[in-house]
Amino acid sequence: MTSRRDFLKTSAGVGVGAAVGMGSAGPLLGAPAVRRSVVTPVAVGSGNALEAVATAIEVVNGGGDTLDGVVQGVNIVERDPGDSSVGYGGLPNLDGVVQLDSSVMHGPSRGAGAVACLEGIKTPSSVAMDVMRYTDHVLLVGKGAQRFAVSMGHQIEDLLTESSRRRWIEWRARMSDRDDYLVPDTAGPGNEPFEDEETYGLGILDSHDGVRPQGTINCNVINRDGDISGVTTTSGLAWKVPGRVGDSPIVGAGLYVDNDVGACGSTGRGEAVIKTCGSHTVIEMMRAGMSPTDACLEALRRIVTFTVEPRLRNDRGLPGFNVNYYAVNKNGEYGGAAIWSGARFAVCVDGEARRETSAYLYER
Ligand code: GLY
Repeated sequence: MTSRRDFLKTSAGVGVGAAVGMGSAGPLLGAPAVRRSVVTPVAVGSGNALEAVATAIEVVNGGGDTLDGVVQGVNIVERDPGDSSVGYGGLPNLDGVVQLDSSVMHGPSRGAGAVACLEGIKTPSSVAMDVMRYTDHVLLVGKGAQRFAVSMGHQIEDLLTESSRRRWIEWRARMSDRDDYLVPDTAGPGNEPFEDEETYGLGILDSHDGVRPQGTINCNVINRDGDISGVTTTSGLAWKVPGRVGDSPIVGAGLYVDNDVGACGSTGRGEAVIKTCGSHTVIEMMRAGMSPTDACLEALRRIVTFTVEPRLRNDRGLPGFNVNYYAVNKNGEYGGAAIWSGARFAVCVDGEARRETSAYLYER
């Protein structure tokens, strides 16, 4: 008979995929076998998370909690009127209303919280954290999420900036040449092109104007003790159908954290991520022994397989949109990958915040 202790030791020796733990409910597929007792803190996230990853590391190195670190990091971008992919200044839906989605996961407590279709609150990630900390629920939506946010002291504000309003007005005017909306003069401040895909990993084919803006911010961090948290927050797909919910607030899609394995988050076409349980898939691949980058690439291949609709494929028969994953494992190894070349991700390690080039499946 092999004792449980011998079995665990043997499993660790034969490789990551074979590592097994025993929960009270029976055997569970376990965490990666190779672990360092002290981890170099690392924060990794989307290209627009440069300040967020730096802040997350600052907070955890100062002894703060990992979730406080990532949420304080993305709050900077959520409050920034110049970033049109999240929070204040995020691009609105079809009706010109900004609807925000966010989720958080706290590894050590196995906690999760999320909000969807939240209107009027600049920092949906903080509301998601409040859902996790102050309710017995995981996901609040719409008016209920807003009422909850107000009860927790968040202020209702107008989230449309002059720039995002002008872009929505122009989009509405370009929808049809048979309605009464006139295309405004596009020159001048506020009509600059949308943020560069290299940094943000944006873009989806759109029948009206070519590329449709779709930005999001994700940030994950691991501290010295190996505790891990993550957050994803977004204003979602620009000009979306009111009520549309993307992957960002869906636990397992736009974000997943398992404190024994790692964290992963996504940006890009949320529908593709939801259908493939994207971030959870990446975590399971890492649990089975893949590196963060390989796990991200493998989950992206699933998206390619799932993209059978001709309307979503380009002239090469490949996805006409992009999805990006960002991941860190229990050892502090990190990676980022996208379907298409040219994307970058943010990382902060050893006190330096920088952008690195994402791995990819296809050259543009
Ligand atoms: N990934 C963001 C969204 O699809 O809403």
